[in-house]
Amino acid sequence: MRIDEAKLRDYFANPPEDISLDEIDLERIPRHVSFIMDGNGRWAQSRGLDRSKGHVAGVDSLRETVTTSVRLGLDALSVYAFSTENWKRPKREVNLLMHLFATTLVKELPLFHQENVRLRFLGDLDALPRETRNVFQRGLDETADHTGMTFALAVNYGSRAEIVRAAQLLAADAAMGNVSPLDIDEEMISSRLYTSGIPDPDLLVRTSGEMRLSNYLLWQLAYTEFYVTDVYWPDFSRWEFLRAVRSFQARDRRFGGVVSK
Ligand code: FPP
Repeated sequence: MRIDEAKLRDYFANPPEDISLDEIDLERIPRHVSFIMDGNGRWAQSRGLDRSKGHVAGVDSLRETVTTSVRLGLDALSVYAFSTENWKRPKREVNLLMHLFATTLVKELPLFHQENVRLRFLGDLDALPRETRNVFQRGLDETADHTGMTFALAVNYGSRAEIVRAAQLLAADAAMGNVSPLDIDEEMISSRLYTSGIPDPDLLVRTSGEMRLSNYLLWQLAYTEFYVTDVYWPDFSRWEFLRAVRSFQARDRRFGGVVSK
């Protein structure tokens, strides 16, 4: 995406001591950054608050992350909001999250319009409460013509389930005689994943220190650079984002090839 440099500089004015926009090469911004937004509960508990307050605070970080991504000119931003395993959480917390997804989406639609952001969802939405599904559909419809950054929200998402689904779709095509099994290639699998049409992430950021993938984008992350920060998601700011991009730009991405230096 094209960067509006004046807006970008304004957005990153008044930097903290250890990071500034000057350290970032604007020619080498990752195209797609993906986030495992972890630590809402611990953030709240460390302040003596109910876990739900952590999720509410997490919405503010997410809004800032969307804006930062647009200012940096990303093509795509994706975030892991709710996994297929998250249904095991207490019913009250699940209900709160579902409600929060719906209300936040409605509230943030003006931002998506203003910033020309196109919404996508990754995951099986059929299992979501009707209110949430309806609002998600409205978000899809209202942003379908937007031509700016793609914002993909993973909800009721599990990577293995996504790959199983792609296998089922391909098997059905093969059974119909539309695809010959030996012709199946990576592209055919990619195009049957929820992320179809979105470039693979260049950078995966996980907050709150955990070093695992938690069944997230297992196929798509094959050559992605990882950045793990101890910061809890509600404390993740535009400056944390810049630190992640700075770290990304210091890497030597070889995609399985040889050292270039
Ligand atoms: C991880 O923290 C966070 C989640 C499971 C939910 C993510 C939701 C948000 C950031 C709220 C807003 C999202 C949208 C899309 C409006 P955790 O509860 O696993 O924290 P813990 O590991 O400290 O317990």
